[in-house]
Amino acid sequence: MINNTNFLTPREIVGELDKYIIGQNDAKRNVAIALRNRWRRMNVKTNMRDEIIPNNILMIGATGVGKTEIARRLAKIADAPFTKVEASKFTEVGYVGRDVESMVRDLVEQAVNMVKASKKEEVKERANQIVEEIILDALIPPLKSRSSVSAGFNVEETIDVSQMNEHELNEKTRERFREKIRNGELDERKIEINIKQANNSGIGMVGGGMMDEASMMNLQEMINGMMPKKSKKRKVTIKDAKKILLEDEASRLIDMDEVKEEAINKAQNTGIIFIDEIDKIAVSAKKGGGGGPDVSREGVQRDLLPIVEGSAVNTKYGIILTDHILFISAGAFHISKPSDLIPELQGRFPIRVELNNLTKDDFYRILKEPKNALTKQYEALFYSEGVELTFLDEAMEEIAEIAFDINSEVENIGARRLHTVVSHLLNEFLFDIPDKIGPNAKIVINRELVKEKLSGLVKNKDLSQYIL
Ligand SMILES: Nc1ncnc2c1ncn2[C@@H]1O[C@H](COP(=O)(O)OP(=O)(O)OP(=O)(O)O)[C@@H](O)[C@H]1O
Ligand SMILES: [Mg+2]
Repeated sequence: MINNTNFLTPREIVGELDKYIIGQNDAKRNVAIALRNRWRRMNVKTNMRDEIIPNNILMIGATGVGKTEIARRLAKIADAPFTKVEASKFTEVGYVGRDVESMVRDLVEQAVNMVKASKKEEVKERANQIVEEIILDALIPPLKSRSSVSAGFNVEETIDVSQMNEHELNEKTRERFREKIRNGELDERKIEINIKQANNSGIGMVGGGMMDEASMMNLQEMINGMMPKKSKKRKVTIKDAKKILLEDEASRLIDMDEVKEEAINKAQNTGIIFIDEIDKIAVSAKKGGGGGPDVSREGVQRDLLPIVEGSAVNTKYGIILTDHILFISAGAFHISKPSDLIPELQGRFPIRVELNNLTKDDFYRILKEPKNALTKQYEALFYSEGVELTFLDEAMEEIAEIAFDINSEVENIGARRLHTVVSHLLNEFLFDIPDKIGPNAKIVINRELVKEKLSGLVKNKDLSQYIL
């Protein structure tokens, strides 16, 4: 959290990013600074605090070198709401109804989900108790309460011994079953529960020209709120019932107004919006006096401007100010240049970082080192079938080399090439498990094997264009 006193220092943030992303030190440093600056701002005591603007970042680099990955990881580290949009989608012909403000609404939605999840975690224990009670009631209906049996009489007097025993017995059985429910002994048993149905009115809103998206959503919510809550009886296993009911009860226990307020705050002060493919809306000056598409591209830039600059956006959870949201934009800028963006927008992304093209050695390290490295992913996949997969270093060197060569000969798609190469390499194994390659088998990938499986393709450029 942003207010945490042990919030990560820039160095530590880079350290965290290093666990997943190879190289790109310049980009890592700058996003780390931007993130820490936000925390610094939160701790500025004077009214200078509201003056400090975030260091929006423009990342420039070819495809598949880690731009999106860095932004995504950064959001994870910061526990910040994060959304990603492609700038180019706003220029698509016929793309109406979703204005640029929708990215801010998505961010708030994300924040609401995060806050809700953490609040649910807080009330989980209480919700669990209630759920247990509901399931118990379904299994062993409680005896009619004493007072209702003996309406109008003094309770103590009217209960005779046998009834006492009955009650005690009932209580005892319930306690025994409570234990069983808790340790999962009864998970497969089926019970009947009431499930509250998602309240969808089924009245679709047709995008009228007069309303923007936010007020349309508000209206939809209102209509849904007016419909009577439906609930339906369903027979489910206790295991499922636990899940369904917990979700239900936890939602009931949390205070949605509180959630909304916290979420708006969280999105305003810690949100990160990643605008991808920003180069696609830059208009190359050389083309000059362009026709339709250029006009619309510049239009999108103008639409983006107020959001990046800071404005109030209406969402169904309330109004959110975008002033302190961190915007990270990215693009390859092969055809256009950052200077082709309208000046006002350029000024709003003061920090430029260039990402390097990945080298053969980077590829090798990407295969081997990240916590979520591709080789580790496949090892886990194979292991789920009891097969032990191991990549030797020499094999990873060879894969890196092949991926690099294909990138330079066919098309440079960066580290994404590793995915296609490795999946092709393992294709046969993936098909043969578990029919031919049984559990407890061991597969070792060495250089020979990589060459054998891939060299034919590498030599044949036409073929590799399609397959790798
Ligand atoms: N430097 C890196 N370290 C580790 N993995 C990387 C790196 N660069 C790319 N990858 C891997 O390649 C994949 C694609 O990277 P990413 O999505 O970040 O590309 P990008 O730079 O955003 O490209 P594009 O311009 O096409 O959006 C990631 O899922 C990641 O696994
Ligand atoms: Mg990307």
